Amino acid sequence: MKLGAAQTPTASTPVIPVLEGRELTKSFWVKQGRGLLAGKARVHAVESVSIRLDPGRVTALVGESGAGKTTVGRLLAKIIKPDGGEVLLDGRPAPPGRPRAYAAQVQMVFQDPFASLNPVHRVRHHLVRPLQIHHMASGDLEAAVDELLRRVALKPPAHFAAKFPHELSGGQRQRVAIARGLAVRPRVLIADEPVSMLDVSIRLGVLNLLADLRDRENLAILYVTHDIASARYLADTIMVMYAGQLVEAAPSVSLTDRPAHPYTQLLLAAAPDPDRAERPALAAHGAPPSLLAPPSGCRFHPRCPYVMEICKRQVPPSVAVASDHSAACWLHVDPNERRVNETGLPATTTARDLLDQRN
Ligand SMILES: Nc1ncnc2c1ncn2[C@@H]1O[C@H](COP(=O)(O)OP(=O)(O)OP(=O)(O)O)[C@@H](O)[C@H]1O
Ligand code: SF4
Ligand SMILES: [Mg+2]
Repeated sequence: MKLGAAQTPTASTPVIPVLEGRELTKSFWVKQGRGLLAGKARVHAVESVSIRLDPGRVTALVGESGAGKTTVGRLLAKIIKPDGGEVLLDGRPAPPGRPRAYAAQVQMVFQDPFASLNPVHRVRHHLVRPLQIHHMASGDLEAAVDELLRRVALKPPAHFAAKFPHELSGGQRQRVAIARGLAVRPRVLIADEPVSMLDVSIRLGVLNLLADLRDRENLAILYVTHDIASARYLADTIMVMYAGQLVEAAPSVSLTDRPAHPYTQLLLAAAPDPDRAERPALAAHGAPPSLLAPPSGCRFHPRCPYVMEICKRQVPPSVAVASDHSAACWLHVDPNERRVNETGLPATTTARDLLDQRN
């Protein structure tokens, strides 16, 4: 079973996802060293990530900084090209490049609403532009702007349409950025850390807006975040990334109630909890590895409290720990099978057999 299959279609989900990434792999070349010693090195940002987005569902992509979450979002939006794997729209290979029709269907919302809005233009301008470029409003632009602002609960719309970005709160600015994304009637919204730069007090409002858009407009939403608590609040499915790879995927409740991967367990233990005075810091278990030379075997092994010898050498397979819950960890592999993998010998091999072979 491949990780990402947590969203295997059931009676309540359609067979064909709106958007799908299959085995996506991406690396970047970066400069290293100076002067005569300068050279190029490869950052293995995303490796073999499969993910599906369905209408009317929120999928959260969770992990620490540098895990590769944004890169997955950009690959799905076709802002960057994968080195390997493919993107499918409605079950068919997405068109080459990023044609306007594709960009209209798959919209991205970024972390910093202030940076994504032009300070010299009023809100009206930000919403009129995409409507014009994509020929979305037949005639009555004012009415279209009005409707967009209502959809993101900025009321009265005329009041907000006349504002400059600096006259709005962070939450209101993010609502404008979302309204701009909605202008072209997308079917997929990729929201990259949409609340992490907002005051805690207004985060909930924006998360509720995303939930509302999922339910009301049947949008497929990818919610990229490092905060597993907000992922549980908003998402139907959670996929956990570590050092460029998916390590666990499941419906939100089962993933957070019964985390199967040691990394997910640590992420949850480090999440804010009002019932716990102190929370263990992830940093106490070391930092994520450099993606220039990721650790061998399981990439989490240098930080894992349960590390075994096999973890250091062999990449763990993805294991179905429940019908819709998978984790890539040797702990969930039958010990006999682990032994086969480690030694290359059949599970039934005895010490006697080993001695015989050596002789
Ligand atoms: N354009 C790029 N050029 C070089 N390296 C890049 C580029 N984009 C991403 N990377 C590297 O790829 C890795 C994954 O980055 P990415 O931004 O996808 O992580 P992330 O999970 O979104 O992190 P964060 O939570 O900090 O946003 C990082 O090591 C990053 O430095
Ligand atoms: S495979 Fe091994 S090192 Fe990796 S998470 Fe599982 S137990 Fe830990
Ligand atoms: Mg990011």
